[in-house]
Amino acid sequence: MIRFEHVTKRYADGTTAVDDLSFEVAEGELVTLVGPSGCGKTTTMKMVNRLIEPTEGRIFLDGDDISAIDPVQLRRRIGYVIQQVGLFPHRTVLENTATVPHLLGWKRGKGRARAAELLDLVGLDPSVYGDRYPEQLSGGQRQRVGVARALAADPPVLLMDEPFGAVDPVVRERLQNEFLRLQAQVRKTVLFVTHDIEEAVRLGDRIAVYGQGSVEQFDSPATVLGAPATDYVADFVGADRGLKRLSVTPVEESDLDRPPVVHLDDPLDRATGRLRAEGARWAVVLDGDGRLHGWIPAGDALSGAKGTVREHARRMEAWLPVGAPLKQAFATMLQHDAGWIAVIDEQSEGRFLGVLTPARLHEALRRSISADDRAVPRAEVAVESVAVVANTAGD
Ligand SMILES: Nc1ncnc2c1ncn2[C@@H]1O[C@H](COP(=O)(O)OP(=O)(O)OP(=O)(O)O)[C@@H](O)[C@H]1O
Ligand SMILES: [Mg+2]
Repeated sequence: MIRFEHVTKRYADGTTAVDDLSFEVAEGELVTLVGPSGCGKTTTMKMVNRLIEPTEGRIFLDGDDISAIDPVQLRRRIGYVIQQVGLFPHRTVLENTATVPHLLGWKRGKGRARAAELLDLVGLDPSVYGDRYPEQLSGGQRQRVGVARALAADPPVLLMDEPFGAVDPVVRERLQNEFLRLQAQVRKTVLFVTHDIEEAVRLGDRIAVYGQGSVEQFDSPATVLGAPATDYVADFVGADRGLKRLSVTPVEESDLDRPPVVHLDDPLDRATGRLRAEGARWAVVLDGDGRLHGWIPAGDALSGAKGTVREHARRMEAWLPVGAPLKQAFATMLQHDAGWIAVIDEQSEGRFLGVLTPARLHEALRRSISADDRAVPRAEVAVESVAVVANTAGD
């Protein structure tokens, strides 16, 4: 969808901001560009919508060489969220959002309707926020308006330059989650710039790690974390890569323990008798379709109680869908102070699969790190020839 072929940008003063850059972003893919300040990320983005012209090399959009496309036409196909949001202070939120439809000459009513729809999509009620001015919004709300505005003309491509850079970590995480949900719906081809490796890992289908002088690695988040291609990348992703890997390693069915199971309509005395005989301290309660209902304690807690399991089952607070990241599993355990959490299959209406324990979580993490180290010896990681973003001037 977006292809860089040997693209170099030298500014008039001799600064080489981007040097022989080649890579490709597939349709519907979200690629994060991560790297230190001044390494050429913004320059890369601005060459895609021709705010900056490359010195050498070519960029293709959907197969077309963009140097042959009229810049105004080109920008209609590309939404752009600039560093620092850049809302117009004297226009309302709704007018800001409708900027591009307005430029495209849409009828006023149609533009405003589209803007309202988009504000809704990014979680801002247009009837509450539509008539406010940017200064009457929080930083996080302003960034959402920035995203809505970039989506207004429904462009297939989005360039986002540190769109969540100006907010605190809590709001940032919420915006990231919202954006992931949104992206799952709209499936744009996205180039997303960030300083923050955590953000790059959470959002990116693939990550381009820019260094001083080269793009050092262009790979999936799991590979960048599990098998950094160079010492520079290893340094950049940090010593706590085990922790970061928690966010990119999913809970799999093979990670789960199978605890004893009872059914809602089992007579209680029979169920607890069986559990006692097995030496179990608790059991998972399922309904007739194998869906998770809750749990019951075994042992003496229910001794003498009558009826069926149904009347004595307790609510299950700690559960999550299979495929969720280990990090979420870990957070759920901490939040509910739980020694184990139930894992269900959302695809089959919540069928119970098993439970994840801290020991199994740890095993899953170790396995995921060592599998990568085995599969991709560090020195041999294919650094797609993304190469080279130089900052010869240094800074
Ligand atoms: N118009 C310009 N003239 C000369 N040099 C420039 C110009 N614009 C940017 N540069 C230089 O090009 C290099 C790359 O800049 P760029 O804005 O692409 O960096 P960046 O990776 O986006 O940084 P940041 O994370 O701080 O936004 C820097 O050294 C910068 O000083
Ligand atoms: Mg920048």
